[in-house]
Amino acid sequence: MTQNATVWRPYAQMQTALPAREIVSTEGATLTLADGRKLIDGVASWWTACHGYNHPHIIQAIQQQAATLPHFMLGELIHQPAQTLAKKLSKLLPGDLNHVFYSESGSVAVEIAMKMALQYWINHQTPERQQFVYFQHGYHGDTFFTMSVSDPQDGIHPPFQTMLPPQLLRPIPTTASLLEEFEKWLSNNSHRIAALILEPLVQGAGGMKIYSTDTLRAICELCRRFDVLIIMDEVFTGFGRTGSLFAIEQADVLPDIVCLSKALTGGTLPLAATIARHHVFQAFLGETPDKGLMHGTTFMGNALACAAANASLDLFASQPRIQQVALIEELLMAELQTLKDVPGVKDVRVKGAIGVVQLAKPMTTELNWFKQRFIEDGVWCRPFGDIVYTTPALTISHEELLSITNAIVKQVTTWSKHFYTHK
Ligand SMILES: Cc1ncc(COP(=O)(O)O)c(C=O)c1O
Repeated sequence: MTQNATVWRPYAQMQTALPAREIVSTEGATLTLADGRKLIDGVASWWTACHGYNHPHIIQAIQQQAATLPHFMLGELIHQPAQTLAKKLSKLLPGDLNHVFYSESGSVAVEIAMKMALQYWINHQTPERQQFVYFQHGYHGDTFFTMSVSDPQDGIHPPFQTMLPPQLLRPIPTTASLLEEFEKWLSNNSHRIAALILEPLVQGAGGMKIYSTDTLRAICELCRRFDVLIIMDEVFTGFGRTGSLFAIEQADVLPDIVCLSKALTGGTLPLAATIARHHVFQAFLGETPDKGLMHGTTFMGNALACAAANASLDLFASQPRIQQVALIEELLMAELQTLKDVPGVKDVRVKGAIGVVQLAKPMTTELNWFKQRFIEDGVWCRPFGDIVYTTPALTISHEELLSITNAIVKQVTTWSKHFYTHK
């Protein structure tokens, strides 16, 4: 029997998902659909398109690279785009975060970081350090090892819970008493911990939870005290999103391993990097292959993607992106605050170019309702869980951003009347 071919979409119940509309082009902060409709993008393609879509500098870099060397396997031979990018990243990151291991997605970058941490201890003759500490509301990917350090209650991974390696889940120590508890707990458990993994300042896919630089600093200080490696997952927060190029800058902390992806190529091509400090890299040096990091993916360090990332970093160097984020933050705060007292709104919070309206309960059928309403309003927003949020391109204009916040204010207010107040 012939079946229609299906594009099996991500995070979708294909039986009830709205039919996918076709997108035909992108430009700046605007999406054009096949029916000619234009939408202002409030999500930046899952937080990747930091310079807006089709930035000519990035497109040109990809085209030039495509004409000479689109891809070559990274084993043995090395190419200039991968080398340049490693140099640029290590210059931008603090301390001796100099050793760049490439892959193609955030999940795999985190897998590699976890593998590095485990083998770091094996190579140090401490193989009993096998577990990872992770935080409630954390999210680090959809592959098996990353699912084991993502919040088990987040609604994405429940069917697999019994199959995942057991890790060590803790609340983020945001108060003095939680911090004291965390300190005691770490001192009792550090002997079995390979690393702590966390998203700095903002936990993204776990509900856009924001926490302070003081908390981040205190967590890192405790890890140092108890000799626990720190894996900082900047896959979401990296490249300006929280108001600095990397979120770790705001807390002035130096993790052992950093994971980057998403906005690394300015939203054009898949690329990720797991970047280690020198003492981590050094632990893998020796005379025998088994001490080395026996990991590699076919398209790691793809030349097109590295060229795009280099061009994206040129733009961070030459354009006022961080100032643009400050203006976005100001506007988001002013506009979204108006929802604070609307019934059914639990919280309104903003950090850099992230604006969040948290509702009193998780959405069910309202998710599709919101998505449709936003399209009718000419914007593209994709609420999930209990939050309606925007993470626009950092280059979005004042008027475009106002269209997004106006639509959020309008639709959350309507939601409150129809789905909340009258229940
Ligand atoms: C903090 C964080 N880590 C890892 C990932 C996984 O990245 P990818 O979807 O590229 O596998 C995500 C994706 O949302 C993320 O937000």
